[in-house]
Amino acid sequence: MAAARPGDERFDAARTAGAPRRAGPDLSIDALPAALISSPLDFLHAEHLRQRQFAKLLSLIADGLANERAIEAALKFVRTDLTLHILDEEISFFPLLRPLCRPEDKIDDLIGVLAEEHREDEKESEKLIEVLEHLLNGEAPSTRAAEILRSFSEHLKGHLALENGVLLPLAKARMTPQSLQLLSQSILDRRRS
Ligand SMILES: [Fe+2]
Ligand SMILES: [Fe+2]
Repeated sequence: MAAARPGDERFDAARTAGAPRRAGPDLSIDALPAALISSPLDFLHAEHLRQRQFAKLLSLIADGLANERAIEAALKFVRTDLTLHILDEEISFFPLLRPLCRPEDKIDDLIGVLAEEHREDEKESEKLIEVLEHLLNGEAPSTRAAEILRSFSEHLKGHLALENGVLLPLAKARMTPQSLQLLSQSILDRRRS
């Protein structure tokens, strides 16, 4: 695994003041899997695993089980990692995959659903950021805040199930070495700019 870039550090908020790691819930999100970019479908799958960790973290924040450091990490993830991932898919991945699909793949329908869910996530992420910023002051989450956190977490998990279960297997079957190379380069360029 390549060294994490600045801002991608692993964190474990359960590890406080000499407490053993297993003393609290696992609040960690893995580092960016930069070494996998040359194998872009594996990279996207690894990003999905990180998003599942993020979704779990949101549930723990809703339950009042996360500290300030974990809330800051969730904020950073929604502002940067999630935004970059949607660009990876919509600007790089979907346009490369679409022309390689067959009619029976119904790729336009699938991309339509996923893009719609991305728009919902972008809209809801504004509320999520507001909630997380508010929680940084140490207050317990209100009922409304917990609802927003849990709802975002559940939506994201549903989206990931569709992408892991349908989109990535389809891409594995249809994408050519050349299209994978273009995808890899595009993902890389986005992180260098
Ligand atoms: Fe995705
Ligand atoms: Fe997506």
